[in-house]
Amino acid sequence: HPGDQITVGGRQYPADHMTNITPHILSHLGKNLHLQQYHPLCHILDRIVKYMYSRYLTPRGNPLFSVHSQLHPVVTTQQNFDSLLIPKDHVSRKKSDNFYVNEEQLLRAHTSAHQCELMRMGFDNFLVIGDVYRRDEIDSSHYPVFHQVEGVRLLTKSDVYGKQQDMKEYELFTPEGPPTHHPHVINILKADLKDCLQGLATTLFGRDVEMRWVDAYFPFTHPSWELEVKLNDQWTEMLGCGIIQHQVLLNADVEERVGWAFGLGLERWAMKLYQIPDIRVFWSTDPGFLSQFAFDDPATNVNFKVVSKHTPCINDISFWLPSVSSYEAADFYDIVRSIGGNLVEQVYLVDQFTHPHTSRTSHCYRIVYRHMDRILTQEEVNRVHSRIEQETTTALGVTIR
Ligand code: PHE
Repeated sequence: HPGDQITVGGRQYPADHMTNITPHILSHLGKNLHLQQYHPLCHILDRIVKYMYSRYLTPRGNPLFSVHSQLHPVVTTQQNFDSLLIPKDHVSRKKSDNFYVNEEQLLRAHTSAHQCELMRMGFDNFLVIGDVYRRDEIDSSHYPVFHQVEGVRLLTKSDVYGKQQDMKEYELFTPEGPPTHHPHVINILKADLKDCLQGLATTLFGRDVEMRWVDAYFPFTHPSWELEVKLNDQWTEMLGCGIIQHQVLLNADVEERVGWAFGLGLERWAMKLYQIPDIRVFWSTDPGFLSQFAFDDPATNVNFKVVSKHTPCINDISFWLPSVSSYEAADFYDIVRSIGGNLVEQVYLVDQFTHPHTSRTSHCYRIVYRHMDRILTQEEVNRVHSRIEQETTTALGVTIR
């Protein structure tokens, strides 16, 4: 209500007639899915950051880009709109499209909201990663909270022209009229930007992926483009980008520099890369979802399997190994998979123990049973589980405890 205080992400703000953040939206703040180890968004982000680190190095061989992944999601309308030349009457400002904290502040609708503050702080090459908020229908590809990666690169005259910079005809801006990028500059920036982003797409989707550039419009870049990638016979827009408008740099008190920017949605990339059919699953805390991404190499291929909506049944199995050297966990996993089939969602070691006197070693595994289409009864699971116990005993020579 107007006059009340509203707490958003641990900070207090005065509410007014524009306030429209719901408790449901507030429950997403601070989750930081992109920073959660083994979350698919974290794997994709890791690959994007590594790619940018390796593509742009300082003369001493260090990564050029800085990474800002924990900026607070409440921004001012100045940051989200004005600093980016978004007109006062632009549709993207509507109350019905955004989550306003109050008249002056909102949950960022894009990571571009941080461009100006970071440029003003003196960063020339940076990535911003964060949760962004848009009022939207909820369906399999739209959710009011998602994650973006923003990339910004600013170049000086010598970055753009290298050694030729002293020659008269090589300028950043045209000499007459309002400051406009020199045509050379646009071409050089465009080549770097497109090469960078095509390289990113091939790094994630493979050498053979088909791509195309489509002209686009954003108030803060000109010219602007979208990169589309062809996956499963379908062209999908993967990112927006362009040459930063000179006025945006002036708003950030940046002088003698030109630059480019891009923005991409992590969920979109993850859904395409892992064949995830529904954007809502990224918020799932179900181990049936998360366990599919529990690997250390972020470049691991995943062909996502839809998680059942039914409750799992969890049974543990403990046994003494015949001897440590003759036992292979992989053989046990094979038995579980061949007997349990599709009923087994996960199997993993939960405990191991060596007896101090007998020196025998015991393993305890957890088997998570779950059916895609129906509820499993405990008796049904117990029958499968005891067949696994029997087969493990005869085939591997273990002793069930
Ligand atoms: N912020 C834009 C969006 O959310 C993407 C973008 C970023 C476009 C940077 C150009 C440059 O759609």
